[in-house]
Amino acid sequence: MTVTICADHADASARAAVIVAGALRAQPALVLGLPTGRTPVALYAALVGARLDWARARTFNLDEFAGLPARDPGSFRAFMDEHLFWRVNLPPAHIGFLHGDAADEAGECACYERAIDEAGGLDLLVLGLGANGHIGFNEPGPELRAGTHAVGLHASTRAANADRFGGDPARVPARGLTLGMGQVLRARRILMLATGAAKADAVAALIEGPLTTRCPASWLQVHPEVTLLVDRAAGAGLRDA
Ligand code: GLP
Repeated sequence: MTVTICADHADASARAAVIVAGALRAQPALVLGLPTGRTPVALYAALVGARLDWARARTFNLDEFAGLPARDPGSFRAFMDEHLFWRVNLPPAHIGFLHGDAADEAGECACYERAIDEAGGLDLLVLGLGANGHIGFNEPGPELRAGTHAVGLHASTRAANADRFGGDPARVPARGLTLGMGQVLRARRILMLATGAAKADAVAALIEGPLTTRCPASWLQVHPEVTLLVDRAAGAGLRDA
């Protein structure tokens, strides 16, 4: 794992943009996994500004709220439309997204898993980090799942996502659909961005802690190609920082 302590969030975002833009230029048919959250907003703005050619790229987002149609303003799909998809020349047919409102959740998850496999797997997976160590909606707990699945969201995760729902955690859906740890760890390359003091404990656990289902991100330690960009605040808990 390559860990870079960046000056601040803007610096980390700019470095992440260089990596993603470089990957897309080198491989125009890149299969790219994407996160939502506050963390990647500046990265997406930088990618929009870089005027890249997305015509042959394919994207698959990590997760979506269960029960929400794509057009719901709180959905992750709406977030991605606003911050990236409507601003670049990525063909809509190349956008992979879990349908939160699918009647058959298990069928939807299996179909999404298959679509990623048929695209050849993720070349580059960009990740954010939950303050509790979650990846996508793979929450800490007694076990983790390898496959794409539906999951109950922790209260802290609902609170962290409340700003898309009028600031009210009770309005945040209680469940989500997410890629499992299998697709995450099969991605050929992983780029994780974690900034802000709220992520310091999770960053320390992810880099220096044991492999444990109590910190899903700790499993990144076994992946051969992880680049982790943190700012000083998020890196403050590291022994060697
Ligand atoms: C959400 C998403 C994650 C994201 C995380 C961090 O719960 N499901 O994919 O990485 O929160 O969000 P933020 O970047 O806003 O801290």
